[in-house]
Amino acid sequence: MQPMTELDADSLREYYRKFAQLEATGSSPIYAAWATGVAEDDEIIALLLDLPKPKRQANLLFAAARHLGAGEDDYPTLRTWLLQHWELTRDLMLARSTQTNEAGRCAVLLPALARIEGPISLIEVGASAGLCLYPDRYSYTYRTETEPVTLHPEDGPSTVELVCEMTNSRPPDRIPEVAWRAGIDLNPIDIADSDQQKWLRSLIWPEHKIRRARLSAASALVAADPPRLVPGDLLETVEDLLAEAPAGTQKVVFHSAVLAYVEPAERESFAALMQSRDDVVWISNEGDGVLPDIGAQADRETDGRFVLAVNGQAIALTGPHGQSFERLG
Ligand SMILES: C[S@@+](CC[C@H](N)C(=O)[O-])C[C@H]1O[C@@H](n2cnc3c(N)ncnc32)[C@H](O)[C@@H]1O
Repeated sequence: MQPMTELDADSLREYYRKFAQLEATGSSPIYAAWATGVAEDDEIIALLLDLPKPKRQANLLFAAARHLGAGEDDYPTLRTWLLQHWELTRDLMLARSTQTNEAGRCAVLLPALARIEGPISLIEVGASAGLCLYPDRYSYTYRTETEPVTLHPEDGPSTVELVCEMTNSRPPDRIPEVAWRAGIDLNPIDIADSDQQKWLRSLIWPEHKIRRARLSAASALVAADPPRLVPGDLLETVEDLLAEAPAGTQKVVFHSAVLAYVEPAERESFAALMQSRDDVVWISNEGDGVLPDIGAQADRETDGRFVLAVNGQAIALTGPHGQSFERLG
């Protein structure tokens, strides 16, 4: 039998290989090259093995390195930089986590939100900095099989414009009224804090310039009127927050790219809690394997897309950054 550390090293190398092939290739040639390099690099693998398991992720390593000034060059350059700055990089990886906040996801939530009657009390669990809590403040363009459809907030075009490719569906025809909004996160991010904002920027992959521009615009908009973000675990905190929603509003709880970070048993408890609340509309936008009962409803290949569901019923496949919406059925 191999000693434990060798097994760990093998699985970490394999994880970095898979990250390069399945996640980064096609989306970030820089990260694909970096992850391929790490997978074959015994010295860097040994340094990563000294970190707790959840802290060995490629996204965290590469964001931390870029945040600290490693640049976006080839793998040998990154390697040299990492070996020279490992203590700093390790400390940052231990202090931070991957809390990517993508306002673009509002474009795929809007079709579900627009169907809800009345003013809404909107609660996001796993909100990061809360940029997805402002679907009523952004402008949207849906590119359909026929012609594009644009929607603006009530007071005119927003500084944040979200573009979404829509298939097999009509675009939403209204932006809902959000009467009250609040979020929950294990570690809420203060978007007005320039270092935290810079960390969110570092989490965006190098080639994704449009997403960086969107983050800047959404951060400025949200920092001018920040949301209430409650620190805590989603399962333990959501009912207290629901109790605060003003009367006369429809309570909506949503989450996007969150439950993958939660243990499967806790995911199921959260889903059961949401299903038990007749007074809540529950919107879930997660990877297809995250809530298996929802993922199983997809009648076609998800190809890395999320499954959007309302009250446990899958309604669409969505681009993970809100870039596409394909209605199911
Ligand atoms: C990838 S970010 C997604 C942020 C946002 N929902 C979006 O779509 O842009 C996931 C967030 O979920 C939070 N999170 C993970 N597990 C959580 C839990 N058990 N309770 C509350 N928040 C959690 C993390 O701290 C992180 O900010």
